[in-house]
Amino acid sequence: MPAPIRHLLSSADFSPAEIAEVLALAHRIKAARPQILGGRELALLFEKPSLRTRMSFEVGVRKLGGTTIYMAPQEVGIGEREAIKDVARAVSRYVDVVAMRTFGQANVEEYAVYSTIPVVNALTEDEHPCQALADLMTLQEQWGDVRGRSIAYIGDGNNVAASLVVTAASLGMDTRIASPQGYALPEHVLTEAAIRAEQTGGNFHNSNDLYDAVRDAEAVYTDVWTSMGQEREAERRRIDFAGWQLNTDVLRHARRGALVMHDLPAHRGEEITDEAIESDASIVFDQVENRTWAQVAVIVTLLGLANQVS
Ligand code: CP
Ligand code: NVA
Repeated sequence: MPAPIRHLLSSADFSPAEIAEVLALAHRIKAARPQILGGRELALLFEKPSLRTRMSFEVGVRKLGGTTIYMAPQEVGIGEREAIKDVARAVSRYVDVVAMRTFGQANVEEYAVYSTIPVVNALTEDEHPCQALADLMTLQEQWGDVRGRSIAYIGDGNNVAASLVVTAASLGMDTRIASPQGYALPEHVLTEAAIRAEQTGGNFHNSNDLYDAVRDAEAVYTDVWTSMGQEREAERRRIDFAGWQLNTDVLRHARRGALVMHDLPAHRGEEITDEAIESDASIVFDQVENRTWAQVAVIVTLLGLANQVS
């Protein structure tokens, strides 16, 4: 019987050991650029705008000898022009792997049920697993082993936060998150992160206290107050998130020289200051760059080609 198709729909789809393996592979691929995606095609099905995700998927696959095809929101009409299950089965007949950026997590989950090729979540409302892998790869470049090192995420308990805490906890990090009242991560994500931290000898802490999370942290991470699709809530969120800003004052509570992280796009002056993002401690553009390598490592893994990379 053929092995079941593997997907990356949620950060929790990879075990802690698999996350470590994918990241090790990403570093090897970044260094050696093996031409192992020759003849392979990636389709990008995007229902939301993107700069980094689209470019990094396309560039990464091409650098390893593969090709890509991008389908813009108005072209696919997932679930509107055509049922998700029909899109999934059609795309499966053309290409080898698909990266999907959509709204509800349920869309990508339903798509994967009908897909006969691997599906990678390129951002949903609930998760951004590729971002988190690139972020942890970037921290490994800074520190080597990240086990026992500390990271504090401050802000909305959103897609980026969910994937970050599960991935960081999977690697044994001291992982903290603080969100304003009413904006915490969903319970199942908090539980997953806590379980993984327990398994890996890491630590996981969730609170509403920004300064508690940041105290002595070696990296401080934030994301926008209002995510794509939440634009109508922007005004309310600006009020609720007042004071939840990654700035020099907040960084004074972190470890001296703490790394500044953001997935971008950033709204300077809202969740992060210009000064923080432009500081020597900022690694945001390394995060950007590593999207390429983390994502091709995911694709190579899901296609069962990882053992061909020396
Ligand atoms: N960080 C990120 O996913 O950026 P884009 O929305 O530009 O792809
Ligand atoms: N939380 C943001 C991340 C963008 C990369 C959003 O979903 O819009």
